[in-house]
Amino acid sequence: MRLDKFLADSGAGTRTEVKKLIQKGMVQVNGETAKKPELKVDPERDVVEFGGERLGARAEFVYYLLHKPAGYVSATEDIREKTVLELVPKDGRRNLFPVGRLDKDTEGLLLITDDGDFAHSITSPKKHVDKKYVANLDGEITDDTIKAFSDGIEFSDGTKCRSAVLECDENDKKTGIVTICEGKYHQVKKMFLCCGLKVVHLQRISIGGLYLDSNLHIGECKLLTDLDKKSVFIGNIH
Ligand code: URA
Repeated sequence: MRLDKFLADSGAGTRTEVKKLIQKGMVQVNGETAKKPELKVDPERDVVEFGGERLGARAEFVYYLLHKPAGYVSATEDIREKTVLELVPKDGRRNLFPVGRLDKDTEGLLLITDDGDFAHSITSPKKHVDKKYVANLDGEITDDTIKAFSDGIEFSDGTKCRSAVLECDENDKKTGIVTICEGKYHQVKKMFLCCGLKVVHLQRISIGGLYLDSNLHIGECKLLTDLDKKSVFIGNIH
């Protein structure tokens, strides 16, 4: 890529500002002072320095928070469907994948990374990381529904869910906020079905202490900060 783009992407300044830095001889590429903004650099191999500091050394892993829209499958590739990977910047050198899965029609917070250990620490059933969903239903939540969620729903095939928290507003009993600490297939929809309710819309709003950013429009993604990453493991119910 062009040197001025690389510098701007690395946070050294705007495209105009970094051109001036280059003209002033303040940028070195592989130990030599760069003279042209259009000089081609390979971020992987070339050492670009500004003010004595190396810029843009490739991060070991990347972590995106995606506001997933309905209509995309949580997979790395699919012959028929659009995948969530189409919504994050392309980087052919990284093996990005979604952390866990949201159904095709579910919206909301989905993490995408190439860090397998991080993904495992969120999805492993042993880690009990909370996931919070807003579910719009075709009927009203009752005290019995809330109790059934708290006791632990058992699916018809005998699968037992851990205790979950179901909250709803007095004035809107057709909307539930559910907190679960596992990730069984279609779990939230199946839990409500066991109580005679159909989920008509589902959105995940948080994983642990990491919440969907209200400034992040549907279909957009952002890079996680270190603090965001840590917040995933804070404040879980079990
Ligand atoms: N539970 C579901 O039923 N669907 C999802 O996408 C996530 C949790």
